[in-house]
Amino acid sequence: MQVVIKADAAAVAEYGAAIFIKQITQQPKSVLGLATGSTPVALYQQLISAYQAGKLSFSQVKTFNLDEYLGLAAEHPQSYRYFMQQQLFNHIDINPDNTAVPAGSATDPLTACQDYEQHILDAGGIDLQLLGLGRNGHIGFNEPSSGLRSRTRIKTLTKETIADNARFFKADEYQPHLSITMGIGTILDARKVVLLATGTSKAAAVKAMIEGPLSASCPASALQLHQHAVVVLDEAAASELNDIEFYRHIEQENQMLLQRLGRA
Ligand code: F6R
Repeated sequence: MQVVIKADAAAVAEYGAAIFIKQITQQPKSVLGLATGSTPVALYQQLISAYQAGKLSFSQVKTFNLDEYLGLAAEHPQSYRYFMQQQLFNHIDINPDNTAVPAGSATDPLTACQDYEQHILDAGGIDLQLLGLGRNGHIGFNEPSSGLRSRTRIKTLTKETIADNARFFKADEYQPHLSITMGIGTILDARKVVLLATGTSKAAAVKAMIEGPLSASCPASALQLHQHAVVVLDEAAASELNDIEFYRHIEQENQMLLQRLGRA
């Protein structure tokens, strides 16, 4: 796991966006895994800016979102499909047919989960997966106790996650307590994974993910098994790490090595 510590949330978004811009530039037909929530919004803004400046095209890109609330139609303002339209897809040149979000309003959600897995396989698998981190260590909606080899399926949200996400719903609005989410196994199949975490509320989960045991109690700890996982943190999210100076030292060594090899 590569641990990158940046000064603040803006620098985290910039670093994450640079990885996506490089991926799309080098491989215009990239298959991207995308996330919703507050954390990726600034990264999406950077991608939109790069597109508007003529530096980036999404015309051949395919995307798969991590998750969706079960029971919300695509047009619902709190659905993750709606979020993606507002925060990214409506502002770039992506072909709408190439954007996939789990079918939250499917009449047969169990089949929809299997179809989603097949759809990812048919696209050739995910090249680069973006992740946020729940305060309880979830990735996607893989809540604690999720199987570490799980595939796309229906998951029950914890009370904590429901409370965390209540800020997006009006007081009298129905808030789903079930979701369709890629599994941890699905996420681990991505060729490269970039997880962003910012703020002190994520610090305990960050510590468990990086320094804790590999455990279903912290689903994000499964990234310890990934061959190419990059975790980008701000100082606040990194504040509970025991070995913070070592991670900074590794990054410096990596940068020097890349420069020496002419790959910086
Ligand atoms: C969203 C998702 C979730 C969020 C996580 C953090 O698609 O899969 O795992 O990434 O809940 O959310 P924020 O960024 O709002 O703190």
